[in-house]
Amino acid sequence: MTISAPGKLMLLGEHAVVYGYPCIVTAISQRLEVSIAEADDMPKDRRFVDAAIGAWGDGKDMKLSAKCAFSGCYGFGSSSAVTVATLKLLRPDATNRQLFDAAYTIVLDIQGVGSGFDVAAAVFGGTLYYIKNKAIEPLAVKDIPLVVGYTGIKSNTVDLIKMVAKKREEYPEKVERICKAIGKIVEEARMKIIEGDWERVGRLMDFNQEYLRDLGVSSEKLEALITAAKAAGAYGAKLSGAGGGDCMIALASPDKRAGVEEAITRAGGEVVHVTPNAEGVRVEL
Ligand code: PMV
Repeated sequence: MTISAPGKLMLLGEHAVVYGYPCIVTAISQRLEVSIAEADDMPKDRRFVDAAIGAWGDGKDMKLSAKCAFSGCYGFGSSSAVTVATLKLLRPDATNRQLFDAAYTIVLDIQGVGSGFDVAAAVFGGTLYYIKNKAIEPLAVKDIPLVVGYTGIKSNTVDLIKMVAKKREEYPEKVERICKAIGKIVEEARMKIIEGDWERVGRLMDFNQEYLRDLGVSSEKLEALITAAKAAGAYGAKLSGAGGGDCMIALASPDKRAGVEEAITRAGGEVVHVTPNAEGVRVEL
């Protein structure tokens, strides 16, 4: 049996989601597959798979193989996808809610921090409005005109979450104000995404990016790609995920898409083709 789970991209609301504010995440067409194998063929970082087997493997000794359609560098959520896919392989009949709870517990045990938005995307798929411990709500969206640019720099999510936490201790009011403002942006974006008003969603991404910059999680390379995308006519652009590196995202109308992709490439980024709003974890065969 083979199980696959999608990768994810944060559209809006990163970091603030750690402090109880909403975010919007989309599952992407690039998937990670886990199957039972003759010989072990696992990712170098076995912690998530081993924890999943420890939780639901009933003491069985099993050999697994994992294949990932995306590089672990992009920040597309390979850890949460491999955890969710392995759990589903062990208990194909588990409900999505059971999968989510077990996978989020494992990710928290290993990483110590995280909102669980990536686990939700891997389990439920689609495009989700997500609030930690409160809401996992699918949004009815039509095609999101998303362009993705990789900076070439791998970022460390846990370090960035800790950096923001430290800032929040030092400047509680400032960081709270920023998170609250991001939360408001996400609330408006939730409606505009359903309406397919990409021009407005693009503006909201720009506003979100300003707050992320204030939090100190953007980087020179991210800014270069974002500026390039916007100069080429994108509706808006921002970093996606923890920041520091990984990917930026932009929204572009069909007539601007090629120009935006070219601008990102010229600014030193690598365009990654993904289809958003992909299906959640599933049995392949
Ligand atoms: O680096 P990523 O793509 O896993 O995104 C991290 C997003 C944060 O909001 C910073 C952390 C989290 O778990 O929500």
